[in-house]
Amino acid sequence: MMKNITDLKTVRLSDDLNAVVILDQTRLPAEECYLELSSAEEIWDAIYKLKVRGAPAIGVAAAYGIYVCSRLIQAGSFDEFYTEFHRIKNYLAGARPTAVNLVAALERMEKVVLNNVSATVPDLVELLHGEAMAIREEDAAACRRIGEYGLSLLRPGMGILTHCNAGHLAVSEYGTALAPIYLGEERGYGFKVFADETRPLLQGARLTAYELHRAGVDVTLICDNMASSVMQKGWVQAVLVGCDRIAANGDVANKIGTSGVAILARHYGIPFYVLGPTSTIDMQCPDGKSIVIEERDPDEITKMWYIHRMAPKDVKTFNPAFDVTPYELITAIITEKGIFNPVDGGIE
Ligand code: MRU
Repeated sequence: MMKNITDLKTVRLSDDLNAVVILDQTRLPAEECYLELSSAEEIWDAIYKLKVRGAPAIGVAAAYGIYVCSRLIQAGSFDEFYTEFHRIKNYLAGARPTAVNLVAALERMEKVVLNNVSATVPDLVELLHGEAMAIREEDAAACRRIGEYGLSLLRPGMGILTHCNAGHLAVSEYGTALAPIYLGEERGYGFKVFADETRPLLQGARLTAYELHRAGVDVTLICDNMASSVMQKGWVQAVLVGCDRIAANGDVANKIGTSGVAILARHYGIPFYVLGPTSTIDMQCPDGKSIVIEERDPDEITKMWYIHRMAPKDVKTFNPAFDVTPYELITAIITEKGIFNPVDGGIE
C-alpha cells in the first residue's frame, strides 16, 4: 500500500504570506528541513543552489517569490511599482538558464501587472497572489493528468528506469516522470523502479530513491553506469524522464546523462518517454542546439559536498547541468494535454 507523499511540501507560501517556504533539497535525504525565504536574494540563492529545483518547482518558487517581494515594494504609483517589480523579475530569472518554467512563470506574473496599469498597488499585489496560486494549482493538476496519460502506456509489473528527479520534489505535487508510478502504485500495478543516481549532484540517489522509498514504491538505486546492465538483463520495459525545456522540433533538454539513457534505450528496444507540462514547451526555441545549457561550479564534480576532494584540485572540468536528447530517440512526449510523438522535427 502506497504511503502518502503529499505531506512533503516542496514549495508553498507561509501562512502570513510573507515568505516562500521550501523543503531544502540539499539536506535530503538526511533531514527534512524547511526554509523560509523572504527576500529576492534568498529566493535567487535557493534556486541557484538547488535548495528548490526541478523545472516546475522553480517556476512555482519564482512566482511565489516575486509575489512575496511585491508585498514589500514601496511605491506611490504604478510606474514606481513596475520599475521595481521588473528589476526583481529579471534578477530572479537569471538564477538558472535552462528550465523554461522559471522565466515563463515570471513573465506570466509580469503580464498580470502590465494588464492592470490602472490598478492600485494593493490591488496589484492581490492579483499577483491569485496568479501565483493559479500557477501552483495548474502545475498540480497538470501532474495528475500527466500521470494518467503516462500510466495508460504502462502495464502492471513493469520495470521502469528513471534519471534525475522528476518527482514530487520537482513540482507542486506527484511529479511528472514519477506521477504514473505513484498513480500505478495506488492502483496496485507493482512497478519495479530503477533510479539512476545522477552524477554529479545525485538527484536520483538523494531525491528520487528517497521519495519513492518513503512512499513504499519498490525502488532500486543504481549508479549511472549501470543502466546498460539492468537493461541488458531485461529488467527495464520503459524509461520515464522529465524535461527542462522542449524545443519546437521535439528535442528535449533534461538532466545531464538523459541523452545517454535515451541512446541505451534505443539500443535495447525500450520505449523512452519524456513527461512534462506544456509550460515546458518553448515554441520560440527551434531545436536543441538553441537551448542554453547551464554550466555549474567545477567543485560539484571534484568535491561535491564531501569533505575530501575526489579529484585533483586544479584538474580541468566540464560540468554541464543538462543535455539534449534529440527527438528521434524519444518514443513519446507526455503532457497534461495528451501523448505526442515527435516526428520529423515537430511535435504532433
Ligand atoms: O538540476 P535540477 O535538479 O533542477 O534538474 C532537474 C531535472 O533535470 C528534471 O528532470 C526536470 O527539471 C524535470 S522536473 C519535473
